[in-house]
Parts: sequence; C-alpha cells; structure tokens
Amino acid sequence: MHAHLINIPKIEDPRGNLSFIEEENHIPFKILRSYWIYDVPGGQVRGGHAFKEQQEVIIALSGSFDVVVDDGTEKKTFSLNRSYYGLYIPAGLWRQMGNFSTNSLALFVSSTCYSADDYIRDYNEFILFLTTNAKVNS
Ligand code: TYD
Repeated sequence: MHAHLINIPKIEDPRGNLSFIEEENHIPFKILRSYWIYDVPGGQVRGGHAFKEQQEVIIALSGSFDVVVDDGTEKKTFSLNRSYYGLYIPAGLWRQMGNFSTNSLALFVSSTCYSADDYIRDYNEFILFLTTNAKVNS
C-alpha cells in the first residue's frame, strides 16, 4: 500500500466552509488518537522516522507544509495546503514533515495509541525492518 491523498468532504457555504472525517469511512481505520503540530519555527523539520504499526492521515488544517514519504527505495513529496485533503500513510514508511508556513496547523489522525516501541528512528534499522518484513510476507 502506498501513501496517497484522500478527498475529505467540503460543504461550501457563504457563512464559511465545513469539512468532516469519520473513522472507517474517509479515514480507512479506527481512530485511536489524534495529535497536532503547531507553532513550528521557520526551517524546522518534524517526524523523520517510521512506524511499525501506526497508520495515519495527515491534514493541513491551516497553512501549508510538505511531507516526504520514503519507502526505502523512492521518496515522494506531498505538499499539503488545503484542509479538505488528507494524506494517508500506511505503516512501514519513513516520513518527515518540513517547509511549515507561518501559523500552519498539522493534524495527525492515528490508528494506534502512543507507543514509543512503535517508532523506528534509525534509518538503517528501517531498511532492515523492510527487508525482514518482505521475507516474512513472501
Ligand atoms: P515525536 O512523534 O517524536 O515527534 P517528531 O517525530 O515530530 O519529532 O513526538 C515528540 C514527543 O512527544 C516524544 O517525546 C513523544 C511525545 N508524544 C507523546 O507523548 N504522545 C503522542 O501521541 C505523540 C505523537 C508524541
């Protein structure tokens, strides 16, 4: 499964637009946790790791930022700048966020509760994880 953009409903209204997400509908998993990143100083990057189990959808609720997704072979950059698109990232991909605009607000909707053990923070370990997983699944 690849990282891909998800269309989020947008109810246009002269009083202001409205969008919404439902678990196991627009979000392709049960939502166990949401968190958000904000007040990012210029030039900072966040992320820079992979998850063994966690699937997530990232939404730019305000402003813009880039998400670089790396499957160990190829890197793809998604520029998020609309609150009616979500970026779905399956487990087992390396991802990093950067290029945050002033006042940007990044929402993360996650399939797992927080667990430090789910993180792969070392890139070599990530490549090893992919190799081991590929063997298990073949
Ligand atoms: P982390 O996911 O490592 O952020 P980044 O990848 O952007 O550097 O999280 C930063 C810190 O916040 C880390 O010490 C763990 C803590 N944290 C929680 O306690 N609960 C959470 O749900 C998340 C996402 C992070």
